Parts: sequence; structure tokens; C-alpha cells
Amino acid sequence: MIPDAFIERLRDSCEIESIISSYLTLKRRGRTLTGLCPFHSEKTPSFTVYPDSQSFYCFGCQKGGSAFTFIQEIERLDFVEAIKLLAGRVGLELPEEAGDDGSSRLRTRILEANRAAARFFHEQLIGPGGSEAYGYLTGRGLTRKTIRTFGLGYSPDSWDALTNHLTGMGFNKRELIEAGLVREGKKGIYDQFRGRVIFPILDLRGNVIGFGGRAMEDGKGPKYLNTSDTPVFNKSRNLYALQAAKGVKSDALLLAEGYMDVIALHQAGFTNAVATLGTALTPDQARLIARYAKRAVIAYDSDSAGQNAARRALSLFSGLDLTVSVLEIEGAKDPDEYIKKYGAQRFGTLIEGGKSAFVFEIDRLKQKHDLETPDGKTAFLNEFCALMADISGEIARDVYIAQIARELDVGKDRLSAATEAIRKKRQGSRGRKQADSLRPYVQDTRPSEGRRTAVDPKADLSGLAAERGMLALLMQNPDYYGEIQSKLTEKDFADPDHAAIYQALRIKLEEQAAPDLALIGPYLDSRQMGIVSGLLTSGQEVKYYREQAEEFLMAIHRQKTDKSPDELGKMSPQQLKEYINTRRAAKS
Ligand code: GTP
Ligand code: MN
Repeated sequence: MIPDAFIERLRDSCEIESIISSYLTLKRRGRTLTGLCPFHSEKTPSFTVYPDSQSFYCFGCQKGGSAFTFIQEIERLDFVEAIKLLAGRVGLELPEEAGDDGSSRLRTRILEANRAAARFFHEQLIGPGGSEAYGYLTGRGLTRKTIRTFGLGYSPDSWDALTNHLTGMGFNKRELIEAGLVREGKKGIYDQFRGRVIFPILDLRGNVIGFGGRAMEDGKGPKYLNTSDTPVFNKSRNLYALQAAKGVKSDALLLAEGYMDVIALHQAGFTNAVATLGTALTPDQARLIARYAKRAVIAYDSDSAGQNAARRALSLFSGLDLTVSVLEIEGAKDPDEYIKKYGAQRFGTLIEGGKSAFVFEIDRLKQKHDLETPDGKTAFLNEFCALMADISGEIARDVYIAQIARELDVGKDRLSAATEAIRKKRQGSRGRKQADSLRPYVQDTRPSEGRRTAVDPKADLSGLAAERGMLALLMQNPDYYGEIQSKLTEKDFADPDHAAIYQALRIKLEEQAAPDLALIGPYLDSRQMGIVSGLLTSGQEVKYYREQAEEFLMAIHRQKTDKSPDELGKMSPQQLKEYINTRRAAKS
């Protein structure tokens, strides 16, 4: 058995687009890529690659899965062979056959070592040796309470202070190296963080999974040093302070660039602030935010690097069900500095006035084109109408169009007509075709009026559609599993493929791992992976709600008691009566 940690590492080093495009030609179409399916013969492309979910799906032959599934299918390999092949291509070394409980024990030890290290760093900060670091933090405006709340610390300027402390507690060399707390050099092991202010990083359950360390002076090595990925820490799938922010009574999350911004924001009362961990926002993090918030407010640095990063973040959010706005932090380089200069209240009004994603995009288009020349103006208007065609709300479309028409002195009706034409064309070609082929997966789970409401209780949900709905819901909202697990087992599923998928999801959910395509791959065959990809694909169109879990559960349980006409014919009048009664009870 290949450890999950390795599968995840390999998945993160393989871009599905580049793997697949070494076998066939892909054309980009917005957020997806399409090509002629290598698994069945076709003349128009129905093979689609989804970089966001790192999956592929063919609407023609219903094959689908992860990059690993693709390699399995195209090279005719089993899962382990496919992993070996890809690992070889990207130059990752396959781990020795490590026993499963070995790796989970190591994880526990790393978490214990991290917790002990966080405590050590904090004690150093408030102890006599930490006065300079403490002064640095208070000098940057942090209060004692904030320092305590975030568990900030100080790593002494020594090669072995932490090493000695933790080995004294019984942690061994390997555990400390794997935790990223110490490094191994020619002369032995030494502390990773030396002479730095320490920011412990917690996961959603409050485990200390890693650290950021800031130098107190410029020019002494890198400004920030972060724990590299370890068996318990993955930068691309965690957010700083999400643990504190997710409990806040607000439907929004504020996304900042750095640790200090987040802390300053929390201290100023914006306790819904989070940040990425020294890297650009990843699709996983965008989905994480969408899971906890209805609205994301991007509060990145005001320099051009920050604004470019905001644009990239916007595009990652665009397929997800949440509204996004971008703050323009004028007069300061970042939220931290802004709050110091202008105060929390003014930052609050900044948030209220945050530009919507569309205004941000319109502003960007304005900068891109020279609106003083006819050619520039035309090019701008073309791109503007294409952008407007993305907006599904008619009123919002009208508002933006009216504004630009006024600003550039062009006919509003003409812009509306151009936008409408683009919308028609898009619906005509891609829209209809895709919707048709999605039907087996999507249609039944959609309520009759508008798809973003809970399932219509009167609609007769078929058992198989409910099974698919339940699987899609769990993949979208793994946190609902806690409520569902006691009410649903594999045996409740009528379709054996669905049962197998549920079982694979459960294995991962019970390990508290994300039920990711790459991770459930080893448990499923290629037809089942195709179903999962189909569900993921439809999941991008449909948002599932908690209440729907109940609907799906009822429909799944109801079908078990459904009997075929054949069976009904063989029943005695008494049995028939009982059967009808249980059916009534199940329906009410
Ligand atoms: P201050 O200068 O302390 O206010 O930091 P900041 O939190 O405002 O950080 P900044 O805007 O400079 O950078 C944003 C984030 O990028 C930081 O919080 C770090 O996570 C990361 N970062 C910044 N500098 C470095 C670096 O030199 N190395 C690494 N690995 N990450 C960095
Ligand atoms: Mn800063």
C-alpha cells in the first residue's frame, strides 16, 4: 500500500493538464480544456479536463478520474504501476513499504513535538531572554492579549535550544526532522528557527501543524521562514487563523497576504481575517474559503504584486458559490499599516465599499486599453461585453452597462444587444450540449424552480438520483459526514458502483482526510472513477445544502422498501396491506 502522504505529494507535483496534453491536444475554453477523447472515437471533442478539481471527464464515454486514472487507462496499468510511472517522470522517490500505523504514529508524534515547541517558543518570548522580541511585537502595536491569543513566540538565537529541550522530553532525531523543527547538517542536527519571532500555525482542530518565523532585522536571512511541508502540514491546503475565523458570526472571510496583517486585523476587531501561508492562493484554499463563507473580501497589499495576486485569487474564486470583492487600500501598503494610520473604523468602511469582482475587472480593462483612441475604445467595449455576458443577474448587468455607456458616451442599447448576442451564442453551443450530457447526473438533484434552493420536497426524487446526490453532496461538504454516517451504510445503496464509491469516501472521511479523487483512486475501478468525475463535474453547477442530505437519505431508504410488480403479485392480501402501510409511513 502506498501511503496517502505520498499520493498527495505526487498529485501536487503533477498538473493534470500537462500530463494529459502529452498524449493529446487540448484546447482551452475558459476554465476547462477540451480535446478528442482517446478512449472512444469521436469527431467533436467531448473529453474535458478540469484543472480546478484536477480531474477529467468525457461526456461521450463517461470515462473520468484523476491524473492517475488517466495514466492507468491510457497506459493500461493498475493503480500502483501508474503511481510508479508518474513518480518516475516527475522524479519523486517511492517510499519504502512503510506500514500504515507507522505513518499515523509519526503524525501523532510530530503534532506532539509541535505543541511542545510552540509552548517552548512562547515561554522564551515572555521570559527574560525574550525581551527584545517582545519589544519588537509590542513595537508593532500588538497587545499582550493578542500575543497570548495567537500563541506568538520567540526562538532563541542558538543552534540547539529547541533541539535540547525536545530531545530532553523524549523526542528523537527523526521525529524532529520530519516535523521540520530541526535540520540535519554535516555536524548533526540544529534548530530550524533561530532568533526569530514565531507564529504557530493551527489546523481546524487546533493542532499546531507548523510555524512561521520572522527575522527581527532586515538583511539577516529571509524575512520569513516557514515550515516546509511535513506529514502534518500542507501549505496549499491550510489558511492562517482559519481556526479562529471560522467560528466568527459573519458570512464573510477577509483574505490578507501575511501573518502580521491577520493579527492586526483580529486585534482591530476583524476576527474573520485569514491568510495564505507564504504562497499564492491555491484552488484548495479557495474551496476551503467557500465552504466557510458566503463572501470573501480580498485585502491584499496595495502594490502591483498584491493587486496581481488579487486578480489571480479572483479567478480562482470565480467558479465557486460565493461573492468576492477586492479592497483598494489607498495610502498604506497593507491592512496592517492602514489600520495603524487610519484606524479600524475607516478600514470598516473600506470593506463596505469593497469593489465587486466585476468592478475590479472593469477597472483592469480600462487600464489595459487606451480609451482615448477609437481602436482602444472598441477593444475595451468588446471585452467589456464579454465580461458582462458572464453575469447571470439581469439587473446587475444593466447597472454596469448603463454606467459604462454613460462614461464612454455610447448607446446603452447597443451594449446590451452585444452582450445578449454573446450570451445567446454561448448558451447555444456549449451550454446546451453540456447540459444534455450532464443530465443523468445533474437533473434529478435539481429542484424544479431555480437550482440554488433546497430540493423540492414534492418532486419525486428517484432512489438512484438520491444516491448520486448524496455522494456529490459528501464530496462537496465532507463536514456533513458526521451527521450522515450513522444513518447510511453501503448496504443502503441499490447500485453497487454507488455503494463502492460511498465505501471509498468513508474510508477517507473516517481518517478525517479530504475525499479527494487521487486518494479514493486506489479503491475504485475505472468505471466508478468515471462516475465520481461525473459527479464532481455536476457538483460545479449545483450547490448542495445540508437540508438536502435528509431528502437524499429518505429517498435512498424509501427505495429499499419499494417492491417490483412481480414481487407484489406474489404477496398475500395481508402482506400487501402491511407493505402499503410501511410505504405510507416512509413517505410521510
Ligand atoms: P511584515 O513585513 O512583518 O509586516 O510582514 P507581512 O505579514 O506584511 O508580510 P509581507 O507582505 O512581506 O509578505 C506576505 C507573506 O509572505 C508573509 O506573511 C509570509 O508568509 C510570506 N513571506 C514574506 N517574505 C517571505 C520570505 O522571505 N520567505 C518566505 N518563505 N515567505 C515570505
Ligand atoms: Mn506588512
